[in-house]
Amino acid sequence: MAAPVVDAEYLKEIEKARRDLRALISSKQCAPIMLRLAWHDAGTYDAKAKTGGPNGSIRNVEELNQSANNGLKIAVDLCEEVKAKHPKITYADLYQLAGIVAVEVTGGPSIDFVPGRKDSDASPDEGRLPDAEQGPSHLRNVFYRMGLSDRDIVALSGGHTLGRAHKDRSGFDGPWTKEPLKFDNSYFKELLKGETKGLLKLPTDKALIEDPKFRIYVEQYAKDEDVFFTDYAASHKKLSELGFTPP
Ligand code: HEM
Repeated sequence: MAAPVVDAEYLKEIEKARRDLRALISSKQCAPIMLRLAWHDAGTYDAKAKTGGPNGSIRNVEELNQSANNGLKIAVDLCEEVKAKHPKITYADLYQLAGIVAVEVTGGPSIDFVPGRKDSDASPDEGRLPDAEQGPSHLRNVFYRMGLSDRDIVALSGGHTLGRAHKDRSGFDGPWTKEPLKFDNSYFKELLKGETKGLLKLPTDKALIEDPKFRIYVEQYAKDEDVFFTDYAASHKKLSELGFTPP
């Protein structure tokens, strides 16, 4: 599909959609699932093949039905309300904007948003997103395939400061932090604390303290929230622009 024409009118629609998303995400308290939607649309990117990435393809039934995306129909449907009011905006832009607004309205850093992503009808085969049961080398395989670094892996994993796992979606259960609607550095503090009753740690979360290179970042982010916010904003911007050359 063709890239949208990013003219003054498109930019105005983006600003209106941003306001609508703020209101929607606050009133429905759906920041976590909106962030997960943005990440799962983008996280299929393959830098060598130049396929996948933030291209709105997660809305296609075949991709939405992949088991990694269980539950995300809720977020796709919520975005549809905003798309109906701003039909010019591509799904690819809308989902990434929703992810950025989700971080912002829950108290996280501001993330720079550049519009102009194209929509795609082509969905990648299943298996590009990380498997929560695995360890450091799997995380590196998946994120390096996207063109991301060790620092990006740890910073972006801080997205688990929001939300929770649901038994019927992933088989895991519970939130990572005591305040799952607040974007802060508590995910990293909890990781270093070890097991706490009622809080979740996936094998891939634990991998971040088991691997010495990852652990350095975990310790920095637990100690200094400003450093986490700066790195998170940079890594999230990269994730939201995989394979995208701004017009
Ligand atoms: C939820 C795995 C990285 C954001 C989840 C869930 C799993 C998971 C299993 C639970 C889904 C459910 O049962 O509802 C992983 C793995 C990752 C990863 C293996 C590899 C590092 C990320 C990244 C972000 C992110 C990079 C965002 C920057 C979220 C959010 C939720 C979530 C916000 C909560 C969704 C909700 O409350 O409905 N993740 N994730 N995750 N993930 Fe990740």
